[in-house]
Amino acid sequence: MRTHIESLVEYMKYLKELGYDGFPLAGTPAKAQAEDVDMYDSRQLSLTNIRLAVEQCTKCRLSSTRTHTVPGEGSCNAGLMFIGEAPGYDEDQQGRPFVGRAGKLLTDIINAMGMQREDVFIANVIKCRPPENRDPSDDEISECSPYLFNQIDIIKPKVIVTLGRHSTTTILGLHTTVKISELRGNFFHYKGIKVMPTFHPAYLLRNEKDKRLVWNDMKLVLKELGRPAPESRNKK
Ligand code: URA
Repeated sequence: MRTHIESLVEYMKYLKELGYDGFPLAGTPAKAQAEDVDMYDSRQLSLTNIRLAVEQCTKCRLSSTRTHTVPGEGSCNAGLMFIGEAPGYDEDQQGRPFVGRAGKLLTDIINAMGMQREDVFIANVIKCRPPENRDPSDDEISECSPYLFNQIDIIKPKVIVTLGRHSTTTILGLHTTVKISELRGNFFHYKGIKVMPTFHPAYLLRNEKDKRLVWNDMKLVLKELGRPAPESRNKK
């Protein structure tokens, strides 16, 4: 985990890139100081503030077992956001979302949609790995999800794809017993943003035949984004 000093140094470097030669005035949020920078910088700065807050977070027990926090990554201007459940082993090691086997499949799906990971924003409901990859508990979700909700408020994507049950129920405020198989293929709404629930890539690794359904969902997402659907293909 980064020390406070390392995070501070990184934050100062970032402020310098934005043209500041000192800290924003005490009591004035960095965001408010960014009036003279364009919207892109302002969003970038707000996302950086969330990342720094996540890196220092000790609100729940997962902070004591994590190797790295996994705040999320991608474009602050993304029209499309993918939201998973929680980091696994590889993500915890690297501090980056979806970089293990399931992550490779998600990257393949994004590429098959004609995009790169850098074009979208990828995040999780939970920013630290639950030990042994157990399901996150309700209190962990309620402590951690405000970071995600703030990320969504900043990025304001056109479409959110929720991967699996935990992200779907968190974003849509549904009971955790709902079945993705009954929701997927339909758009729902969160604060005016279209939400497409679909199967989690880890599930797809075990249930290859359902890749076809996910590809159908992604074609609906592409249509909503006004992007052409690449040639129909048997989804990896
Ligand atoms: N599964 C998730 O839900 N998120 C990750 O980042 C990796 C695997």
